[in-house]
Amino acid sequence: MSKKKYISVLLTLTLVLVCLCACQAAGTNQTGTGQTGQDSEVSQMKDRADAPADKGDTSSSSRPSENSLSETAEPASGEPAGVDSASAASVGKFDFESRTVLLNSGYTMPVMGLGTYSLDHDTCVNSVKALLQNGGRLIDTAYMYHNEEAVGEGVRQAMEEYGIPREEIFVITKLYPDQFGDPEAAIEMALEKLDIGYIDMMLLHHPGTDDVKAYKAMESYMEQGKIRSLGLSNWYVEELTDFLPQVSIMPSLVQNEIHPYYQEQDVVPFIQEKGIVVQCWYPLGGRGHTAELLGDETITAIAQAHGVSSAQVILRWDLQRGIVVIPGSSNPDHIKENLDLFSFELTDDEMASINALDRGEKHDWY
Ligand SMILES: NC(=O)c1ccc[n+]([C@@H]2O[C@H](COP(=O)([O-])OP(=O)(O)OC[C@H]3O[C@@H](n4cnc5c(N)ncnc54)[C@H](OP(=O)(O)O)[C@@H]3O)[C@@H](O)[C@H]2O)c1
Repeated sequence: MSKKKYISVLLTLTLVLVCLCACQAAGTNQTGTGQTGQDSEVSQMKDRADAPADKGDTSSSSRPSENSLSETAEPASGEPAGVDSASAASVGKFDFESRTVLLNSGYTMPVMGLGTYSLDHDTCVNSVKALLQNGGRLIDTAYMYHNEEAVGEGVRQAMEEYGIPREEIFVITKLYPDQFGDPEAAIEMALEKLDIGYIDMMLLHHPGTDDVKAYKAMESYMEQGKIRSLGLSNWYVEELTDFLPQVSIMPSLVQNEIHPYYQEQDVVPFIQEKGIVVQCWYPLGGRGHTAELLGDETITAIAQAHGVSSAQVILRWDLQRGIVVIPGSSNPDHIKENLDLFSFELTDDEMASINALDRGEKHDWY
């Protein structure tokens, strides 16, 4: 073979070899099994998880709507899809510094506030004002409590007298089952009675006939910006499993009976794992039951050790379980005390000894 021919054969062989290597590399990436593909997905996920959550600015009109399902979304489990992963890492986690929790709706909610069940008009106005004057910002009412007007009045007076911006205040109200048949009229009535511009969160008070219809109406008011977040009350594992696949917007909150004698140790994680915040009613056992609970010797011993009241111990136990508290009170001193939950912390042993008080003792029928 001549030298020229030898070089040409060598060049051809090298070219073929280079082509083969290039093809193999391209093939690996196309199948998606190569390291490159995995890396980019991991880093995309990480980028989304690291993105700052829209925590502070609840006033933004372009608020995030992470809990909305896109029209085409097909939830794998048949349940509403979760939040956008940009905020997912922070949703439901309590920020003990700002004393708020980020909801899957993109809004933040204070982790402690005031319940208004059974408060008559004047008492309710006074309690709402006492809460707001002492730094509390979360108020729970309901159509059923017949005091939405009083809550609205207290909020408006406090805004004016104490210079509190509306955006700092978070008002929850609820539709009662006998309103589910005409939910639009019920929502309009709540907006009118409260008269505070918009409703921060609306719940369905109990499961009942037409609850899906009522929830869908709330979804449409949320899309119009008249309600900012949605939730449910007295929904447990079975009810949630049945209900969630039928709605488009994941609830941000479930409000259920929870206190040391009725702890819902299975239900709470079931709800929290979905990125839904749990809030407790009857945190102090409810009227008629508070004496026994506040006098419980385990709780009083812990209270003594920290130099706080039994009520504060119970409310702090809730917060450390990631449960939002709305103790009811007609007494401004109690209201002030119930906001003072951040100067002490329960130890793991103290948490465990309160957990051991659970006796599945419900204090109301629902
Ligand atoms: N979704 C539902 O189905 C549902 C059902 C029930 C209740 N809720 C909501 O949950 C809220 C809380 O429940 P609740 O108000 O019925 O019961 P609760 O908060 O368990 O107990 C209220 C009782 O505790 C007393 N109290 C409050 N703070 C105290 C303190 N620091 N020291 C001693 N006593 C104290 C109050 O008396 P004073 O008035 O003297 O302070 C009142 O008698 C309700 O107001 C309502 O907003 C929802």
